[in-house]
Amino acid sequence: MTSELSPIDKAKFIAAKQATEYVKSGMKVGLGTGSTAAWLVQCLGEMVRDEGLLIKGVPTSSRTARLARDVGIEVITLDEAKWLDVTIDGTDEYDAELNLIKGGGGAHLQEKIVATASDRMIVIADASKKVDTLGAFPLPIEVIPFGMRTTRALIEETLISMDVLGRDVTQRMNGDAPFVSDEGNFILDLHLKRIGNPRQLSLILNQIPGVVENGLFLDICDVVIVGHADGRVEVTDITNDTNEQVRFDVRDDDNIFQDFAD
Ligand code: A5P
Repeated sequence: MTSELSPIDKAKFIAAKQATEYVKSGMKVGLGTGSTAAWLVQCLGEMVRDEGLLIKGVPTSSRTARLARDVGIEVITLDEAKWLDVTIDGTDEYDAELNLIKGGGGAHLQEKIVATASDRMIVIADASKKVDTLGAFPLPIEVIPFGMRTTRALIEETLISMDVLGRDVTQRMNGDAPFVSDEGNFILDLHLKRIGNPRQLSLILNQIPGVVENGLFLDICDVVIVGHADGRVEVTDITNDTNEQVRFDVRDDDNIFQDFAD
């Protein structure tokens, strides 16, 4: 059955499965967006259906809200929840300090609001997301449509004095039309290649009036769980400075993936 999933999907699934260890009945859980977070939502849905897990989920996008409802998770708004026990989400990059670039799926605004309103943020990923220095992945910036060209020009001007290697700015598209976020905003992707000072960049970008939020998640993530296709899982917890390895026994006759591959 394992052969029915690609190695990358096995890695994502294993990371998501390990992350469910952090979810207990009675918790309010932030549900991330993206392909790795989708595995988590499916795993939690299975636990709700088969094991009687009682949770309330706060989705970080309309896509995740639909999936969560489909798999049987009770969905509430962040305002109803007020505060969350844990948020589990994917990432586009993470570094050794567990700082992140997120927003490849265009949901980083809601993701950042939800993660910041949580006791703990756990990131689930495959090994390709680890970087020495943030910035190879284009940094998403959510901007309001009003005056977007002016906002873009201000961002480009700001980048001249920043410690970055690239300065190209592109507007995220959805086919021929601009990509529109769940909040009705546009996304600009900054192709920076290397971000020398993420804190300074984040602060300065967010001072530009048309910028709603950037995709740098600094000092927000507590734990990164990295899955590997061979069954290894690495859990790095920055709050207690630990790095542990766990192993899922993944054999070709194993049915660990069976329910999800069907
Ligand atoms: C969504 O906006 C992003 O922040 C995702 O969490 C990120 O792109 C990771 O997605 P994958 O799990 O699909 O790589």
